[in-house]
Amino acid sequence: MTLIGPSLMCADLGRLKETVEALEQAGVDYYHFDIMDGSFVPNFTMGPDMVKALRPYTSKPFDVHLMADEPERHIDLFAAAGADMISVHAEAKGHLQRTLQRIRSHGLRAGVALNPSTPLCVLDYVLDVTDYVCLMSVNPGFAGQTFIPSIYAKIARLKRIIEESREEILIEVDGNVSFETIPRVLQNGASMLVCGTSSLFRPGVEVGSAASELRHFIRTGASLQP
Ligand code: DX5
Ligand code: ZN
Repeated sequence: MTLIGPSLMCADLGRLKETVEALEQAGVDYYHFDIMDGSFVPNFTMGPDMVKALRPYTSKPFDVHLMADEPERHIDLFAAAGADMISVHAEAKGHLQRTLQRIRSHGLRAGVALNPSTPLCVLDYVLDVTDYVCLMSVNPGFAGQTFIPSIYAKIARLKRIIEESREEILIEVDGNVSFETIPRVLQNGASMLVCGTSSLFRPGVEVGSAASELRHFIRTGASLQP
């Protein structure tokens, strides 16, 4: 099952409620919130109040992607705001294993996010406390970037590592997930797609129909394309 997760930082931030209502109608699977602290990445986007504000409009999972230097400090805040899943960067400060345990202690799903250049071996001793891995296919911080081709092989390699570990871990891909990149992203083993300006939030395209078009594309063979 391929899961579509709109990247809400790419939405019209002045019409987030209407956007979520349209995406609900279109049947997306979860919502991806990019949280940036201006230090781990040179940008700011949204915060816990935005997560809280949107919580009443959907029961679908909220996936909070913490692009923050000290993620462990923020887990409780986002858990209270209504997150269902929180991913933290392996490259950030602090103790990754402890942070993942803290996320799970809230009853949330714990994710590890990896920047494009970070090797998969950082996961070796946390697979047992990981529910999903967010592979960045662009350098984090900004929408509208270009997919880094080496990530296709990284997805396939991660899939093999997960299979060997016998852990139930999903692969999420985040960055320039588009009609061009989705086929190979799926063929190589990803199942959670962070969908931003490359697939969902396109100028002049109503977001609900963009989501339906994307679902149709995935269902009718995106994963089969050569
Ligand atoms: C980048 C963000 C991504 C990105 C996805 O740091 O995490 O969510 O905005 O959108 P596009 O499709 O513009 O790459
Ligand atoms: Zn993200």
